[in-house]
Amino acid sequence: MPTLPFFQEKFNAFLEQNIQIGEPRNLYEPVLYIMKLGGKRLRPALTLMVTDLLGGDYRKALHAALAVEVFHNFSLVHDDIMDEAPLRRGKETVHEKWDVNTGILSGDAMLISAYRQMEVYNEPKFKTLIQLFNSTALKVCEGQQYDMDFETREEVSVEEYMEMISNKTAILIAAALKMGAIIADADKASQEAVFKYGMNLGIAFQLQDDYLDAFGDTARFGKQLGGDIIENKKTYLYLKAREMASEIEQRELSDLYSLKPANPDQKVQIVRDIFINSGTVE
Ligand code: IPE
Ligand code: IPE
Ligand code: MG
Ligand code: MG
Ligand code: MG
Repeated sequence: MPTLPFFQEKFNAFLEQNIQIGEPRNLYEPVLYIMKLGGKRLRPALTLMVTDLLGGDYRKALHAALAVEVFHNFSLVHDDIMDEAPLRRGKETVHEKWDVNTGILSGDAMLISAYRQMEVYNEPKFKTLIQLFNSTALKVCEGQQYDMDFETREEVSVEEYMEMISNKTAILIAAALKMGAIIADADKASQEAVFKYGMNLGIAFQLQDDYLDAFGDTARFGKQLGGDIIENKKTYLYLKAREMASEIEQRELSDLYSLKPANPDQKVQIVRDIFINSGTVE
């Protein structure tokens, strides 16, 4: 059976053929820029892989895979504005290279382009896919809003955090897998099974992303180290440290997370030390 790299390659070839620059350039250049910056192409490769695995023709899933990847990249462009992130995939974020207004509108155009990819599917599949895409996209927005709300909320429970990451991250991965199953004409039980698997994979994926944000290698991770700490994100590391740290460290954490830091590097250093000293990470 072909492995993930096979499908990543097939997807990248399809992307090359299907994404072109148009006018006005200030709308489409950023789209091309972010889409061609690379990225793991995890979600679209999973869509193709599931179609193949469940007996379908993966080529029929290429448009759905592109829809998912363009949607994912749209969410990154807007997420980087919201998170004030300077780096993405080792390069300047769209709003840094251009400006915030460009990031907003190019992001909007990407969202619409993502939906357009679904136009190739016929009924009854079209409706099933669009319904899944719609409910997923709205859940991602809900998750993103909770992620932002939690920045200024002192008390966030692990349950609330899990619900937030299920929506902002896991559901899109789960939907990517389920689309593959729908396109393969798999039965409902198989569709639900891959969806569930995708939710668990997505939750693990976001937990790892939170860890790498604080302790990853910037060159490989491609994002600003400690970005979540600077933005007061209530990540799993933060929530666990609030349980495990000494009283003094807990007070320090709480103070450090109550405003935006005057010296971001220093805040990142102190918080990382607390994560380590409290045994939150090893
Ligand atoms: C980044 O997703 C956003 C998260 C959900 C953590 P990826 O880590 O899949 O980003 P790329 O597409 O590979 O750059
Ligand atoms: C990703 O959350 C969720 C979405 C983009 C919807 P993050 O904010 O953790 O993603 P990165 O770390 O910037 O890629
Ligand atoms: Mg974010
Ligand atoms: Mg972010
Ligand atoms: Mg992150």
